[in-house]
Amino acid sequence: MSSLLLTGIGELVTWDEERPVRHDAALVVADGAVTWVGDAAEAPAADDVLDVDGAAVVPGFVDSHSHLVFAGDRATEFEARMAGRPYAAGGIRTTVAATRAASDADLDANVTRLVEEMRRQGTTTVEIKSGYGLTVDDEARSLAIAARHTDETTYLGAHVVPDGAEPEAYVALVTGAMLVACAPHARWIDVFCEDGAFGVDAARAVLTAGRDAGLGMRVHANQLSYGPGVRLACELGAAAVDHCTYLTDDDVDALAASDTVAGLLPGVEFSTRHPYPDARRLLDAGATVALASDCNPGSSYTSSIPLCLALAVREMGMTPYEALRAATLGGAASLRRDDVGHLRVGARADLAILDAPSAVHLAYRPGVPLVARTLVGGRSPALTGAAARP
Ligand code: NIG
Ligand code: FE
Repeated sequence: MSSLLLTGIGELVTWDEERPVRHDAALVVADGAVTWVGDAAEAPAADDVLDVDGAAVVPGFVDSHSHLVFAGDRATEFEARMAGRPYAAGGIRTTVAATRAASDADLDANVTRLVEEMRRQGTTTVEIKSGYGLTVDDEARSLAIAARHTDETTYLGAHVVPDGAEPEAYVALVTGAMLVACAPHARWIDVFCEDGAFGVDAARAVLTAGRDAGLGMRVHANQLSYGPGVRLACELGAAAVDHCTYLTDDDVDALAASDTVAGLLPGVEFSTRHPYPDARRLLDAGATVALASDCNPGSSYTSSIPLCLALAVREMGMTPYEALRAATLGGAASLRRDDVGHLRVGARADLAILDAPSAVHLAYRPGVPLVARTLVGGRSPALTGAAARP
């Protein structure tokens, strides 16, 4: 087994409980995992050495929420929003039509392009949802394509009720034949619980059907207004409830008392002109928070976790290290993973080498491409093809 010594690390974020951030550090990688962490002066010998010359090294970002299987874009809708039109869940149907009309090859190429964008910006694990097919065949093929790029695939047949479908019959399809076709390609099930999408009873039916089919539960909720989705997610023990923009005190208490991770997606508020979610309130209450891109062509067409970090720090009351923790360890908690999101001994060697002396620069220098290099399993793979799989 060949080993790599990464040394000259000006600031190393490991999230070790006793010493989460160290200086003048080094790290050894072997067989794709971190095998040693310590002071650069005490580093053991290794087969290869990479001296990063004072750069900061952070865990690769764990983007726990994205919708990359789609065709087309909705730039016109964004332009209209910026001229004052509100965001509405119904815009999803525009992308559904384009996605149904696209070939498998075109959908796969779009996922490859966006995953490469993510990788260049430091993301090493990504969750990818279906949800722009909304027929049995289009949802199943969306998930089969997503599964070529990640193990963290999420069945979101319950994104909206498609044009021409009757709501009750559509929920029966999502929990019946569509679930049967999609479950083999999915780790998770998700539902958009919001006015204009699915009500709380339908959301409960979707989530429990997925759970009974062996899938983990995730929820989209409280994005556009107050509602019951966050409390439903906590009651059912979902791994994550994402958006959490409009929260009552009861919602915050429910999150704090549960293991359900609150996923915050500031690219959405940037792109819809809604108020940003209050991360400070959630952290102070004791909830676990994740930050994710929600990359999709409607509400948040960014693949950039560094942008989300900057927004979280500037607009949501987080410190730079709280935001970084939410985009790494928080994302891992959201995906119920303990092998990623940190760089303690035993972790997968997924990391970002920054063109900066500290992780604070990720928020301090917004919009600047500071990720110099991303390693996945200790390697810097060619960015196209199976090797690029985060
Ligand atoms: O997470 N909230 C629901 N779904 C996506 C938006 C999808 C779209 O507008 O196309 C989201 O924001
Ligand atoms: Fe989403």
